[in-house]
Amino acid sequence: MHLVTLIPGDGIGPEITQAVVAILAAAQAPVVWETENAGQTTFDASGELIPVSLLASLEKNRVGLKGPLTTPVGKGFKSINVTLRQKYDLYQNVRPSKTTPGVKTRYEGVDLVLFRENTEGLYSGLEVYDEHHGIADSFNRISVLGCKHICRAAFAYAAKHGRKKVTLAHKANILKMAGTLMLNACQEAAAEFPQIVYEDKIIDNMCMQLVTRPEQFDVIVTTNLFGDILSDLCAGLVGGLGVVAGANIGDDMAIFEAVHGSAPDIAGQGKANPTALLRSALMMLEHLGEHAVAQRIEQALGATLMNKEHCTGDLGGKASTSQFAQFVIDNM
Ligand code: NAI
Repeated sequence: MHLVTLIPGDGIGPEITQAVVAILAAAQAPVVWETENAGQTTFDASGELIPVSLLASLEKNRVGLKGPLTTPVGKGFKSINVTLRQKYDLYQNVRPSKTTPGVKTRYEGVDLVLFRENTEGLYSGLEVYDEHHGIADSFNRISVLGCKHICRAAFAYAAKHGRKKVTLAHKANILKMAGTLMLNACQEAAAEFPQIVYEDKIIDNMCMQLVTRPEQFDVIVTTNLFGDILSDLCAGLVGGLGVVAGANIGDDMAIFEAVHGSAPDIAGQGKANPTALLRSALMMLEHLGEHAVAQRIEQALGATLMNKEHCTGDLGGKASTSQFAQFVIDNM
């Protein structure tokens, strides 16, 4: 049995978490959940955004499954997601986007994995506002080590999973120093993995190429902000935010979560698609070495997605979150 910290989160978080927990239980996945929450809901109830008990649970279990978290807007609140990623050096944000039979999109044959640097760049939290001159500076802090870590992780993943190519998305033509660090780190990693084709693209061209010929990409590696934006773009290529999973991975801890946020526009209405969090849970099961049960759930999910009537509204169906979960369970 694996003890896993479960963070239901805010907005649609509790609904999709409940669905995922039910599916894993029906599949008899060898997971024991330790539930600890964070975010806006927790803050409203206890005045704490990230309770100490949550941190203790993560530090003990080293694996978490997390629903989306809302960070209260305003001064003094640092994003909880960014805080967790930085605190535990979860430097890899791994986000696969793949076209799925039954899920309607404009594209075919998309199968790419985005590696987003997860702790540095414009998310370093280094900002200064000079009120006198009305100037705000946000620092894009990037370290040689950080670049080396994420670039090497992307190549190592490509090698391990039989992927053929790694593309670095950057802006080194304008961000001369920070961009060059990524270029250098990727060239270094590429030299270590000569069997993997390496190319680099400037981020603006990358966006155009992604929406015109996404099938040309395999593994993509990039910095924090570019990765955040490309993640949603890639989700749009394969059916939207309701279906794409993600993982925050460090050397000795991993927190799995969907790409999407707390979706306040549909929260509490039973409309949310739990597929993205379920796929994140499947990444978690793979991480834990539980391949057989992950594959069994994946097949049941695939069968469910083939029947549009059984899907949630974002995929053109009429099923509620819990009905969708039941269809997946029935298909097991
Ligand atoms: P969002 O990802 O929550 O929603 C964008 C759109 O996608 C909305 O129309 C929403 O209804 C739809 N959507 C998202 N997930 C869906 C699902 N599972 N099923 C069906 N439709 C889905 O992005 P938004 O509105 O920009 O952010 C809302 C809040 O979430 C903010 O407070 C933000 O900070 C937070 N957030 C948290 C993240 C995390 O915890 N990892 C990631 C992104 C945003």
